[in-house]
Amino acid sequence: MVTPKLFLTTWLLLCSVLGGAVATAVADDAAQKQVRRQAEQPLNNAPVWRAVRYGAEHSTQATGREAGVLIQSAGETWRQIRNGPITLYGGLLLILVPISIGLFYQWKGPLKLNGHPTGRLVQRFSYWERLIHWSVAITFVILAVTGILMLFGRYVLIPLIGHGGFAWFAQISKNVHNLVGPLFIAAVACMFVMFVRDNVWHSIDWQWLKKAPQVLSGKTHVPSGKYNAAEKGWFWGGVALLGLVVGISGLILDFPNFEQTRATMQVAHVVHGVGALIFVAASLGHIYMGTIGTEGAYAGMRTGYVDETWAKEHHELWFKEVNS
Ligand code: HEM
Repeated sequence: MVTPKLFLTTWLLLCSVLGGAVATAVADDAAQKQVRRQAEQPLNNAPVWRAVRYGAEHSTQATGREAGVLIQSAGETWRQIRNGPITLYGGLLLILVPISIGLFYQWKGPLKLNGHPTGRLVQRFSYWERLIHWSVAITFVILAVTGILMLFGRYVLIPLIGHGGFAWFAQISKNVHNLVGPLFIAAVACMFVMFVRDNVWHSIDWQWLKKAPQVLSGKTHVPSGKYNAAEKGWFWGGVALLGLVVGISGLILDFPNFEQTRATMQVAHVVHGVGALIFVAASLGHIYMGTIGTEGAYAGMRTGYVDETWAKEHHELWFKEVNS
């Protein structure tokens, strides 16, 4: 008697035998076609290369991840994105932002104090806050310069110093970038922990934000805590968010020993490139406000002390707090 179990087993057996036969026939057919092609069109291996071109995994003696994938076509897409929109729009951003800052400076000039400095100083940053800030700032500038060199160097340097010269620069930049990257991440992590307390958002920050154009051109005054809404935006949008984006994608690129595939590295590279270009462009605004854009600001991060009048005019609520 044919039991359901017997029927099923027989059926499955039949299917696998049939399936195997079909697969072998197809493979045989492909192999025969290839042999015929070699005879008719020696060295024309188009079908093989078509299969290879579309990323089919084949057997190989080589070991390691994706060893069987000779050509990964997403690589071409990545190359076009890197040399296309990232280079074009990133380049435009890094040209237009400094030009706009320069025009704003010509139009409005620096943010000057209304009152006269009293000569009495208030401590604004501790030794450790300044040490962390400048560790972040210096590693950031090194990463920005070497990153820009690696991305745009070929267009600017090759015409000037030739391929050999550029190759030397690119190699040095890559090694310096890979070494300094983890240092920047460590410094940013310390900065986050050290500065987060004074960057908590308060209702007064919304008022500041609403009147930002008038405040930044010195037309009106809105009291703020230790950091105003613009600085808090730089802290959360720049230090925290973009710091995370370029940090994590940078570590994936810097330490390719965790079985990352080419696709993972390509995505990490695009995220890293776009994140870093926005970070550098945004930092130019911060650097402008921290140097020529605001009279007296730079002294605060260089010496740790600001004049009383500066503290009152720019960070009134903080000044009241430290004096209470
Ligand atoms: C050459 C580059 C830089 C210069 C000249 C500079 C200058 C300054 C100055 C003068 C201040 C004090 C502003 C105040 O008293 O309110 C400051 C604060 C600060 N800077 Fe920089 N800076 C630079 C780069 C950076 C970079 C690359 C980062 C982060 C990626 C950064 C993050 C901060 C933060 C978080 C603060 C405190 C304000 C806040 O927490 O909101 N700085 N900087």
